[in-house]
Amino acid sequence: MLSGKRIIVTGGARGLGRSFAEGIARQGAHVVIADILEEQGHAVAVDLRADGLNVEFYPLDLAAPDSVENCVEQAVKSLGGLDGLINNGAIATGIGGKSMEEIDVETWDRVMTVNVRGTWLMTRSSSPHLRASKAGRVVNVASDTALWGAPMLMHYVSSKGAVISMSRAMAREMGTDNVTVNVIAPGLTLCEATEYVPEERHRLYMEGRAINREQYPEDIVGAVSFLLSDSAGFLTGQVLPVNGGFVMN
Ligand SMILES: NC(=O)c1ccc[n+]([C@@H]2O[C@H](COP(=O)([O-])OP(=O)(O)OC[C@H]3O[C@@H](n4cnc5c(N)ncnc54)[C@H](O)[C@@H]3O)[C@@H](O)[C@H]2O)c1
Repeated sequence: MLSGKRIIVTGGARGLGRSFAEGIARQGAHVVIADILEEQGHAVAVDLRADGLNVEFYPLDLAAPDSVENCVEQAVKSLGGLDGLINNGAIATGIGGKSMEEIDVETWDRVMTVNVRGTWLMTRSSSPHLRASKAGRVVNVASDTALWGAPMLMHYVSSKGAVISMSRAMAREMGTDNVTVNVIAPGLTLCEATEYVPEERHRLYMEGRAINREQYPEDIVGAVSFLLSDSAGFLTGQVLPVNGGFVMN
């Protein structure tokens, strides 16, 4: 489905991003994983290449504008162009369990810088290349917490709400060159980042889903692949909650 598509996946060194990178590479995409976790990112690329997949790694710090520019430049040079960008990298763990009164300003700023500004900077640097592709695709990874207002995580929830709004504005600006911009809003998904989420939050999700089971990274790969594909060329500015029916649009 994605044969020959040249795609960057941010935050691909582990968790959902790793599954997206592997899933789209198995469909024929040429993938660059970009992450702040250099050792892990390199190791993932080595593993996937050993499996015959076309995957490279470049270091990226979403909080540093120069790093974003360098990363996109290196990736595009190596891929020979750019057809897709998955903005998956984010501060997604280690910040929960705090009320809005308890969240500190430094953590708030860091979450906004990485999750919101980082998504914009990556898309800004990628924009000329995606526009040149004439069928460019951006998939921004938000979270269904932004749709139901999950408590005790307000900085993260707000950042994902901003990603949703930003994606709609980006879709209108980039549509002039046939670039689509859509959002995936996953539900609570089992991976390294959610190992520490309290049992009762997992139960809340399982009981609230139309499909009453845990969610795995592989549950999301199909939706991401579809949004990157040629079949999704007239679908833009949309939010797709992939969460077993916990939140329904
Ligand atoms: N796991 C879930 O339940 C869940 C649910 C909804 C949405 N999401 C979203 O899915 C995406 C992936 O989350 P995950 O659960 O795999 O968590 P994760 O922490 O494993 O993945 C986030 C990735 O982003 C990278 N990253 C963090 N800061 C960075 C920076 N400054 N520069 C570059 N890379 C950086 C991390 O190193 C990591 O590889 C995130 O956007 C998250 O908000 C996850």
